[in-house]
Amino acid sequence: MNRKIIIDTDPGQDDALALLLALSAPDCLEVCGVTTVAGNVPVDQTCINALRICQLAGRPEVPVFKGCPRPILRPLHTAEFICGADGLAGMALEAPRQGQQQAHAVAFLIDTLRHSDRPITLCALGPLTNIALALVQAPDISDKIEQCIIMGGARDLGNMTAAAEFNFFVDPHAASIVFASGVPIVLFPLNATYQAVATPARLAGFDRQASVSRQIVSMLRRERPGGAALGGDDGHPMHDACVIAYLLWPELFEGRDCNVEIEIAEGTTVGRSTIDWWGRSSAKPNAHVVATLNADAMFERMAGAVRALDQNGGKPGDMN
Ligand code: RIB
Ligand code: CA
Repeated sequence: MNRKIIIDTDPGQDDALALLLALSAPDCLEVCGVTTVAGNVPVDQTCINALRICQLAGRPEVPVFKGCPRPILRPLHTAEFICGADGLAGMALEAPRQGQQQAHAVAFLIDTLRHSDRPITLCALGPLTNIALALVQAPDISDKIEQCIIMGGARDLGNMTAAAEFNFFVDPHAASIVFASGVPIVLFPLNATYQAVATPARLAGFDRQASVSRQIVSMLRRERPGGAALGGDDGHPMHDACVIAYLLWPELFEGRDCNVEIEIAEGTTVGRSTIDWWGRSSAKPNAHVVATLNADAMFERMAGAVRALDQNGGKPGDMN
């Protein structure tokens, strides 16, 4: 039986690869829907990007929902300086022919979880605003969340500030709500995901003759703004793709159960994730925190997976 998932996302290049990977494996993953949130770029754009990516994958039937346009309390910070003005610099995709769904993302999360015949895995690739508000509005849904697999936080240095990773920096209150909710969490912090850099050698396995793979390579070979300042300039770190790769190939990842706390006080450490890797506190573990991964094998398998999108009729995007 395949695994039911909902992907909450702020596309973003690494979100794009994660979505394409999830959509390439319908026998393993039933994507019930894609909910979008403000993050890398504003939510109007993340919603359009999610529609474009589903279209590129040849999966326009996957419902896409627009979510929260800003964090719960803090002002919105976006990351065009990294992902480009439209959030998908390097890809040249057609405008979506299909529209977004009418329902709000938070309503979709609640309704779908409540009425599902079996638990659903949430894949959180952006700020946790939608998921946190769904849990506050309808605490009963936590019984129907199989796992919440989250890209966010950092065991050491952040990438938005010295202390905080982008997703948790943007909405620390949402992250704090989710980590206190009791839902089963698997966390991919930066110290793990910076191992998943799309180096030229790892991109060599993507078939440039195939339209979807060609779009991915074009996206990931573009100049990397920030370069060595943000984790080196060997290539773009595929933070979010780790979440979906974990669902498909868990054997490639290792971690341990830890307590994770999120700093919500304003100041230089707002949004920091304190990951008790050595179990120094008496606090109970609330997440399985991934620390290492086999990146070469992950990219090799992703290249093979997305090739299926072309073989199964992935719709070529415009390559201007
Ligand atoms: O810090 C990396 C995370 O922030 C990734 O999910 C990226 O897409 C941005 O959302
Ligand atoms: Ca993201």
